[in-house]
Amino acid sequence: MYITRGQKEYYEKNGYLIFADLISRGELEVLRNEVTKLTMEKSDRLIPEKSGAVRTIFAPHHTSEVMRRLIRLPPILETAKSLLETDVYLHQFKINCKVALEGEQWEWHQDFLYWNKEDAMPLPRVLTAAVFLDDVDDFNGPMLIVPGSHLEGMIEVEAHGKYAPNGTPKEPSWMTTLTADLKYKIDQQILSGLLKKSRILSVKGSAGLVLFFHGNLFHASSQNLSCIDRQSIFISYNSIENRLGAKENPRPEFIASRDFTILDPVSDDALLEFAD
Ligand code: SIN
Ligand code: MN
Repeated sequence: MYITRGQKEYYEKNGYLIFADLISRGELEVLRNEVTKLTMEKSDRLIPEKSGAVRTIFAPHHTSEVMRRLIRLPPILETAKSLLETDVYLHQFKINCKVALEGEQWEWHQDFLYWNKEDAMPLPRVLTAAVFLDDVDDFNGPMLIVPGSHLEGMIEVEAHGKYAPNGTPKEPSWMTTLTADLKYKIDQQILSGLLKKSRILSVKGSAGLVLFFHGNLFHASSQNLSCIDRQSIFISYNSIENRLGAKENPRPEFIASRDFTILDPVSDDALLEFAD
C-alpha cells in the first residue's frame, strides 16, 4: 500500500488526492526534455489549438521510452492501484501543453461520461494522475475541480456536435471530444446544483505535484493568460476488471486503448537513467 488509510478515505470522500513533489527535480528535467522532443513529432496524435500551437499529445508512449516508464513509475502506478484496489491498465495517456497565451480552455466535464459514451467503459472504476511539469498559479490556467462531485455519479448531458452548413461533419467526430469546444458540456443549472454542496478548488502548486482524481469528478480549466506554459501529463488508469466493451466505430487506439495489459512497476530510478 503506497497510501495511508486516511488518504484513501480522503480520496473516497473528496474524489481527489494531491501529492506535492512526487516527481523529483531530476525526473522533471528528463520529462520536460522529452516533451520538447515529442512536440516536434509529426503525427495525428498531436492535436492543435486554434492558433496551431500543440494542445495535446496523445499516447506519447507509442514513441517514447521515457513515457513508457513514467506510467509504470512506482509512486504513481502503485498509488493508482491502491485507490482502485485492483491491477490496472492504461486507458488514456496525454500531455496537455497549454502554451503561454495560446493554450485554450477545458470546459466543465466528467471524464467518465466520455469514456462510457464514446468507449463503452462499464463503470467509473477509473482515475487520472495529472503530473505538473510547470509551476501552476492563478494565471496559467490551473485545473478547477469540485471536491466531492464524483459522488453525484455520471450526469447525462446532451452531446453537441460541430457540423458544416450542409450537415456533414467538418472533421472526424471524435475530434469534438478533444478540442476546446467540447462535445459534452454541463450547463449552468448542473454547475449551480454542484456548487450548492461544494466550492470550486483551484489546484495550484509547484512542478512535480501529482493530482489523482476520480473519473466522475467535475473539472475544467481556463485559457492560459500568462507568459508561462502549463504543461501537464494526464495518465488515466482503468481497473483491469473494468475493460472496455465492444463499440461500433471506436475512437482511435491512441485516445482509448484496447490493450488491456496489466501495468507492472519499473524501478524507482527508471527515469533518471535518461538524465544528462
Ligand atoms: C482534461 O480535462 O482532460 C484536461 C484539463 C486540463 O488540462 O486542464
Ligand atoms: Mn478531463
